[in-house]
Amino acid sequence: MAASTAISSSAGGVRPLKLAEVERIEILGSESIVCGFHLVDYIWTDIFTNLSPASTYVLITDTNLAKLYLDKYQDAFQVAWAHSRPGKPAPRLLVHVLSPGETSKSRATKSAIEDWMLAEKCTRDTMVLALGGGVIGDLVGYVASTFMRGVPFIQIPTSLLAMSDSSIGGKTGVDTPAGKNLIGTFWQPKRIFMDMSVLSTLPAREFSNGMAEVVKTAAIWSPEEFDVLEASADEVRAAVLEGQRRQAEDTGMTLASRSPAQKMLLRVIAASARVKAYVVSHDERESGMRGLLNFGHTIGHAIEAILSPQVLHGECVAIGCVLEAEVSRRMGHIGEVGVARLSRCLRAYGLPTTINDPIIRKLVGDRRLAEVRPRRLMDIMGLDKKNVGAQKRIVILKKLGQTLEMKPTDVADSLIEEVISAGVLVKPVAESTDDARLQSVVVIPPGSKSISNRALQLAALGVGECRIKNLLHSDDTQVMLAALQAMDGCSFSWEDDGDTLVVVGGGGRLSVPDHELFLGNAGTAARFLTTTVNLIDAADGETTVLTGNARMKQRPTGPLVDALRINGCSIEYCEREGSLPLRITHSEGKGFPGGRIQLAASVSSQYVSSILLCAPYAQEPVHLELVGGKVISQPYIDMTIAMMAQFGCQVQRLSENEYLIPRCVYTNPAEYVVESDASSATYPLAFAAITGTECTVPNIGSASLQGDARFAVDVLRPMGCLVDQTATSTTVRGPARGALRALGDIDMEPMTDAFLTAAALAAVAPTDNDGVTRIRGIANQHVKECDRIAAMCDELAKFGVKTENHADGIDVYGKPIVELVSATPSVHCYDDHRVAMSFSILACVAPGGAEIRERRCVGKTWPQWWDVLGRDLGAPIAGADPDAANGSAAETAAAAQTGASCEKSIVVIGMRGVGKTSLGRVAAQGLGLEFIDLDEHLEKDAGKTIPEIVNGSGWAAFRQHESRILAQVLTQTHPTGALVVCGGGVVEEEANRDVLKQYMASGATVVCLKPNMQHVAAYLNRDKTRPAYAITSDINDVYARRLPLYAECCNYEYLVDKALLSMTDEDEHPGAWAVIERDFVRLLRFATGADLNRVDIEHPSFFVSLTAPDVREYLPNKLGQLTAGAHAIELRADLLLHAADFVDADFSDQGTEDAFVHYVHRQLTMLRHFSRLPVVFTVRTIPQGGAFPADANSLRLRLLHSAVQWGAEYVDVEVDNAAAAVYAARRNSLVIASYHDTTGKKLRWGAAECEFANEILARARSCGDIAKLISVANSWEDNLDCMRFVQHNHSVSAPLIALNMGYAGQLSRVLCPCLTPVTHPILTAAAAPGQISVAQINQARALAGLMPPKKYFLFGTPISQSPSPAMHNAGFVALGLLSTYALKQTAAVDDQIAATIRANDFGGASVTIPHKQAIIPLLDSLTPAAQRIGAVNTIIPIETADGQRTLLGDNTDYLGIVDCLRQTRVDFDQGVAVPDFASSSALVIGAGGTSRAALYALYTLGIRTVVVFNRTFSRAEDLVGEFGSLFDSLTAVPELEDAAKAQPSYIIGTIPGSDLLIPESLFAAQPMGVALDMAYKPRWTPLLEAAQKRRWKIVHGVQVLIAQGIHQFEKWTHLTAPVAEMSNAVFTKYNKEF
Ligand SMILES: NC(=O)c1ccc[n+]([C@@H]2O[C@H](COP(=O)([O-])OP(=O)(O)OC[C@H]3O[C@@H](n4cnc5c(N)ncnc54)[C@H](O)[C@@H]3O)[C@@H](O)[C@H]2O)c1
Ligand SMILES: [Zn+2]
Repeated sequence: MAASTAISSSAGGVRPLKLAEVERIEILGSESIVCGFHLVDYIWTDIFTNLSPASTYVLITDTNLAKLYLDKYQDAFQVAWAHSRPGKPAPRLLVHVLSPGETSKSRATKSAIEDWMLAEKCTRDTMVLALGGGVIGDLVGYVASTFMRGVPFIQIPTSLLAMSDSSIGGKTGVDTPAGKNLIGTFWQPKRIFMDMSVLSTLPAREFSNGMAEVVKTAAIWSPEEFDVLEASADEVRAAVLEGQRRQAEDTGMTLASRSPAQKMLLRVIAASARVKAYVVSHDERESGMRGLLNFGHTIGHAIEAILSPQVLHGECVAIGCVLEAEVSRRMGHIGEVGVARLSRCLRAYGLPTTINDPIIRKLVGDRRLAEVRPRRLMDIMGLDKKNVGAQKRIVILKKLGQTLEMKPTDVADSLIEEVISAGVLVKPVAESTDDARLQSVVVIPPGSKSISNRALQLAALGVGECRIKNLLHSDDTQVMLAALQAMDGCSFSWEDDGDTLVVVGGGGRLSVPDHELFLGNAGTAARFLTTTVNLIDAADGETTVLTGNARMKQRPTGPLVDALRINGCSIEYCEREGSLPLRITHSEGKGFPGGRIQLAASVSSQYVSSILLCAPYAQEPVHLELVGGKVISQPYIDMTIAMMAQFGCQVQRLSENEYLIPRCVYTNPAEYVVESDASSATYPLAFAAITGTECTVPNIGSASLQGDARFAVDVLRPMGCLVDQTATSTTVRGPARGALRALGDIDMEPMTDAFLTAAALAAVAPTDNDGVTRIRGIANQHVKECDRIAAMCDELAKFGVKTENHADGIDVYGKPIVELVSATPSVHCYDDHRVAMSFSILACVAPGGAEIRERRCVGKTWPQWWDVLGRDLGAPIAGADPDAANGSAAETAAAAQTGASCEKSIVVIGMRGVGKTSLGRVAAQGLGLEFIDLDEHLEKDAGKTIPEIVNGSGWAAFRQHESRILAQVLTQTHPTGALVVCGGGVVEEEANRDVLKQYMASGATVVCLKPNMQHVAAYLNRDKTRPAYAITSDINDVYARRLPLYAECCNYEYLVDKALLSMTDEDEHPGAWAVIERDFVRLLRFATGADLNRVDIEHPSFFVSLTAPDVREYLPNKLGQLTAGAHAIELRADLLLHAADFVDADFSDQGTEDAFVHYVHRQLTMLRHFSRLPVVFTVRTIPQGGAFPADANSLRLRLLHSAVQWGAEYVDVEVDNAAAAVYAARRNSLVIASYHDTTGKKLRWGAAECEFANEILARARSCGDIAKLISVANSWEDNLDCMRFVQHNHSVSAPLIALNMGYAGQLSRVLCPCLTPVTHPILTAAAAPGQISVAQINQARALAGLMPPKKYFLFGTPISQSPSPAMHNAGFVALGLLSTYALKQTAAVDDQIAATIRANDFGGASVTIPHKQAIIPLLDSLTPAAQRIGAVNTIIPIETADGQRTLLGDNTDYLGIVDCLRQTRVDFDQGVAVPDFASSSALVIGAGGTSRAALYALYTLGIRTVVVFNRTFSRAEDLVGEFGSLFDSLTAVPELEDAAKAQPSYIIGTIPGSDLLIPESLFAAQPMGVALDMAYKPRWTPLLEAAQKRRWKIVHGVQVLIAQGIHQFEKWTHLTAPVAEMSNAVFTKYNKEF
């Protein structure tokens, strides 16, 4: 290693050279890696003087770097040449600038560079320089390696990743559609210049990205280096920031000018580079050792494969490192301390450490995240080119800085899968033999947190060396260590790979730290240190500052500070009174005065402990008096005093609340073993109890100060275990399996956290006390991490165990083990570690075991619990993926129901009279939520009506009461699982608004219902049950006043306006309310993520752009026609501007702006009411080819944000500086980030000219879920370039819409892979030039050979009169599909059918009587509905990912019935509304195949009481047997008259050609109902005729036939069916023939 001295010489008027002092690193035998700061002059000088001369120097870089550094390089080139070869003509310096980003790393770019170099006449004596990150380095290296069979090459890495990794080792390459880096060479650079000063311009995220590799390298290679990295995160970051401030100067160029932070930065990067260089030198072609550098990459790459490009390589590797370290830990190598340090260190450098990290969540959203399934990761890992065969290999850490082998280790799939899974499957432990039963397993749970914190402080203040073992590593200990060290209070070092902390105490001598003490959010550390800092002995006036993060600055510390101030300490609050940051001013020789101190101890016992711990070092003995009410948590005070005694200081308790602490110095014991956490210890002990084995926890006994230490004696012993407890250890032996005894009444107040463990055991304790265990004294457990009592009740129920939930406890009714539910229940843990660990114990004996859904939640106290359970205790465990999509329908439905109960409750606000209660009730039912009316709640609570309260005590009292109830409902009684409707005035109170805002911030949905004020006023004039408004103003004024308040407190808005469904101003649409209800449920399902209604973009998809100024132009009928074939509707808010009211409107006027926003909301709402398709909400400005004024930016933004609040599925945003804000606020909407080049000159697609397109694409992706780039075609060929650009950049996970406008660009619309904007012939104007229709695109695709026509069939007999061919063929024609549908009449399901459905051009088939069941064996799979119904009427071919085809059987009969019956509730023509489903009963006539579909349809609609009639009674009874479980009541009746008793409102006939006599009594009880007959010949069946007489609603068989056919059509074609054309075709034929 040599450092050249800085020299400055000058020659012939040229500026002097500035040569940096550098450090060199050896690689492959020469010192060709050069590190330093500000290297530019050095680089050229080195090249000109030490390397072979070249005639041409080619510098290749990207636009980001060119902007920053190109001038410097060009200038230095001339200067350095003038100095090194004075007078000689300079060689050529050619520069090529590429667009930044991974897309440049392509063959196309490589050829483009080569063509350019050839055109520039570069020859073999060219030298190529790569200035940039890994992309430039890899690409340019590849160019150099093949240009003229290889020319010399220089790397100037500028990103941290490139410096630490990619520039070293000689790997070059480009990406191809088949994968990254698959094509490339090994080509070693002549030099690698690492100029650390350029890191100052690197974006922060890229810096973290590179740090992942640096941390990784230290983790496999060097414990010392890891220590340095861990300790210097702040410094390293500071060096970068410092660089930013002082970029212009040459700081750091010479050693003398290098700051300590810069030295640290250089040190850590050079160390990392040195390791890579060493490994490469010893294993250049990657055969063994080089594999070590892949630590974190096996799993990291698999994650990257799913989440790139949004998530960066280093971010994926960081997560991979932690997971692979966990694999190592699971195998028994690295300890938990190591894993925790690794993950903490990565986080310190801004990296994510789990898949669910908020960093990742923010980058990709929940939907993409849901794609990261363990199975998929395993599959991807299986394909890794670094595997040997199928065997997966992972670098296993023995400890931090050391690997198990000098190469990756073979690891079993099951182990990897277990670690990467979200859930864990625990299987029952085999019953052991008596011998094994007596062998004690020893388990040491993690150290107690409270004891760890105290031990650290005591040892630091003590004298002598102390080895602390079993210390818990938490934020508190970490922060405390750093702070004590900063005060020079003591010295620390780690032994045994971090298992032992060696403290050399400083005897209480502390000095002023050279920086503020930053304590993060570590509460205990903050409290303890507040007193400690006063012990610092320093010159008068010197100060120390204690500070923390934002959350910490809210937490109270006032009483402690007050007490210390009164005692004479000088402490001031720097910001908020009563909280950190604190500034302590020292005065020489005074420190902490001591003497009499009064302290209020009713808030936190930590204040008391803080003073106690430091008291021996005060100037005077401390006489501490606790005042101000009941002292909280006395046991913790006792713990502090007992531990002080262990370190040699005796505290005297003078009276209940008075203590005397003499002056003394702590004497450190040589070793201090931190007692394990007693709550954690209950789990291994319970394991022994439940499995009948023996377990010892060797460091908790009767002398323990922790309450939960009594668990063994007070709970396990009475349950029948043998308990052997000494002062310091506990051994438990369980009774024979199944022989645990119930406890009867037990008070667990002293050990509340252990109640979950006890409840899990009680579940299988059937003997004694009638098998009942009644746990009391645990009221606080209702409000811990979750409502633990409710959680235990809900989850134990899954095992068939009965419980009762009480205000201060739980009753558990024990069962014999064999009677537990034996299907593997899936346990929800509510993210609560104790729930998870308790149920893992029960799973160890439950038949079939159990699946614990959130395995990671144990990390809070015992991250390695699963290792202990699986490895030490011997329970069989495996990974489980609770959310995998392939669960059965029943399971999913069950999950949806229980799932709802753990989601945040929904809140509905809005003016009184708008319909909150009635809509709320319906929605609660639809979503399976509990309905809560806040007003009712309040009345119940007060025992008075609201008018009584208001009249009696006034409005203010009422509002106060309301606030209390609101907070109670949302935070305590119903934080989840409910729909809460609030009173209209709830927003008037600031306290309430705060509650609602906080609730939204926690991720909840609050919907505001917006009224049509006329309707509200009319309603209020009728309603006398509520008091009048407080202020005697007009309701409109009240509304106007509240409007902004409502807006503040909601994140969704729903417009309730029946007028929107009327086509004329007068008549009111009778079905309007049903539509409003339906769409409200739809909005809530969207808001809560239950149904995001997104377009499936795996198939070609379209959205139709509406152009009229008012959507009413298309209502009610044209909209259906317009949207045929399309998947979404685009609402162009800018085109609405032309509406008469808004022409020339002045949008600077608030009133006009509000009116327009409201108008747009009405438009969107109408679209919702008339179409189920998702909406693309767009506000296109004039520069982008739209109609919206470019300067009305605030209105445009307001509309876009509103669209998110209105639940628009897609929001189209222009790529400008406003886009990021909409993207950040998009909630469940997807953002389409659009760019339009209306000139066609800038946005070019060709490989050689697409720099701008690449740049815009990258920008669009940074602010959108979907990128949309629109240019104009100058020539027809532009379409081919566009297609290639799309092929290169589009994927389902990172979708890209790219198009050319204009006539010449039409082909680009044909080739667009997804979400193509289309027009329709009946629209008067197209939204953009060149826009064509779905039919035109389909036809062009079919003719061009892109979409081969398919053949469809109807199988059955007799079918000659079927209208199906007419219907489907009409549909094909209307959408421009060239497919055909034909009859295939066969008597049996024969070989001919078998061959037909396997033919290549088979598109699908309908199946009718009599083949609906016989066809099933020919198919590959069935949908859950077809399976439940037991019949198939639709065959759908599915293309699998590997190009195979499988046949899926489905049933659309039931969907047809569902649609028709739902439609009767909203139909336009008839007067009285039909009864709602949930409270109605139904009758099904017939018991054949169709009646099965009818029953399933009724079930789907929510009807719960059904009777079945069939002539052959036994067949009806069979049906009851099969479908009974779907209903509350399903009965068969022998006579049709008997059905009248059930008072059916819905009657479905399923018997073709029936001559049944329909008794009038069936209709007698209900004024309105619906009769539906599946038979369509004749049109009027006896059932329908009878119903018609009673003026019931009628559904004809042919209507169901059409409805089910529409579903078939859509399932086959993935296009929205042209309903009008298809039903016209049916009726034309039908009307002729019947
Ligand atoms: N050859 C190897 O052994 C190897 C190893 C690891 C990774 N790689 C490759 O490296 C590539 C990733 O490298 P990367 O992370 O450096 O990405 P990159 O080259 O895309 O750089 C990241 C971004 O930072 C910008 N940038 C770089 N330095 C900057 C600076 N000093 N100031 C301002 N902006 C700066 C770039 O313009 C770019 O936008 C991938 O293609 C990967 O396959 C190769
Ligand atoms: Zn890497």
